Amino acid sequence: MKVAVIGTGYVGLVAGACFADTGNTVYCVDNDISKIESLKNGVIPIYEPGLDTLVKRGYTEGRMIFTTVVAEAVQAAEIIFMAVGTPPLPNGEPDLQYLKSASEEVARAMNGYKVIVNKSTVPIGSHRVVADWMTPFTKQPFDVISNPEFLKEGSAVDDFLKPDRVVIGTEKEEVYQKMVDLYSPFVRQGNPIIWMDPVSAEMTKYACNAFLATRISFMNELSVLCEKVGGDIEMIRKGMATDQRIGKHFLYAGVGYGGSCFPKDVQALMATARREEITMAVVNSVEEANYRQKKRLAQKVFSHFGANLKGKTFALWGLAFKPNTDDMREAPAITIINELRKAGAQIKGFDPVATETARAAIGSEITYCSSAFQAIEGADALLIVTEWNEFRHPDFARMKKDLKNPVIFDGRNIYNPEEMNKLGFTYYGIGRGGKV
Ligand SMILES: NC(=O)c1ccc[n+]([C@@H]2O[C@H](COP(=O)([O-])OP(=O)(O)OC[C@H]3O[C@@H](n4cnc5c(N)ncnc54)[C@H](O)[C@@H]3O)[C@@H](O)[C@H]2O)c1
Repeated sequence: MKVAVIGTGYVGLVAGACFADTGNTVYCVDNDISKIESLKNGVIPIYEPGLDTLVKRGYTEGRMIFTTVVAEAVQAAEIIFMAVGTPPLPNGEPDLQYLKSASEEVARAMNGYKVIVNKSTVPIGSHRVVADWMTPFTKQPFDVISNPEFLKEGSAVDDFLKPDRVVIGTEKEEVYQKMVDLYSPFVRQGNPIIWMDPVSAEMTKYACNAFLATRISFMNELSVLCEKVGGDIEMIRKGMATDQRIGKHFLYAGVGYGGSCFPKDVQALMATARREEITMAVVNSVEEANYRQKKRLAQKVFSHFGANLKGKTFALWGLAFKPNTDDMREAPAITIINELRKAGAQIKGFDPVATETARAAIGSEITYCSSAFQAIEGADALLIVTEWNEFRHPDFARMKKDLKNPVIFDGRNIYNPEEMNKLGFTYYGIGRGGKV
């Protein structure tokens, strides 16, 4: 099959590479010339495990074509995926300007019937909106369908190649069948391709993200209570996770959720509810709880060191919003750094892969270190912000020697409080047995 993917970001590039890997010819389009140039030179603009191998293979074997020319891609392809960004506007609604201009460009270029697939996360009803945007620019027939993406950054390739399910939102059986043909190599072990109407498909994406965010905020709220009453959120998590009705995923208390999806999608759902004049009390509180949670680690620093941090330096391990990605969008590290900087502190940050994206997001307000131990040298305390595996078993003796004070604020609960105390650290986790 010939496929076009408009937007070669985290979703578009992964989708393009995976479709190409199953034998399709994929035109990957981006209007960011530097992205396309670097892809042609074999440089992957994002960090995503396993992606470089797929992209290099797809490109050298001629199944991935990188271009800035929408018309070239659209005219060659029968299925066109829209994978442009839909970032939040200040009022919480997604900014659809990229989708609108891409839709118009696609429409202008069409040379026959096309299936337009909304892969971007878009507000409920967007399949109709995109069709309305396209209609004035083409006389060619087309269908706009919804096929939300559920991949997770950090394991995006794996998630795309082995999805739990594929959701296809279209009223037309022949269009659904075309999508089944394209996706069948990824569901050979029997995971379902679920056919539904486009509105339900669009809403499924928001429902999933809001629900997962709810689990995280729920655990974060419990962790606050733990610190008051003396419970250990890690034990409570284990006690909950073994209940099959609950399951083990997304039950970790921490520094609040971030990334390009949960905050944006929760806000978008709230915006839709407002527009429809209904109250979604649960969703509203999820967002509120997360806002508070993102400040909690900094508050722990204030309760230990006082509100004035002038002359103090803090090491941050992890800057990206989660491990195995360089994505800094809505990363809790940004809030934590802002809070500490406002109080006068200096920051030395280290992230195994997100230094450049962090520099773009945060600027030169902090010192970027090239190793974890460089960050803690002479620092007053260490804050764990992202749970990269390499932070799990550090040389604690060296850590104690290099830090000015043996104080750790573990925003991801990667260490054991008792062991840390035995090793002579003052240790603050999240919701760990009254050790605030
Ligand atoms: N990142 C994720 O984990 C994830 C997961 C599921 C769904 N989504 C959704 O997928 C969509 C894309 O997210 P992303 O993280 O890949 O975004 P991204 O910002 O990484 O990529 C978007 C790309 O689109 C390009 N673009 C914008 N306008 C264009 C145009 N007119 N023509 C061609 N290219 C254009 C940009 O240059 C950019 O490279 C969003 O709606 C997001 O909510 C993201």
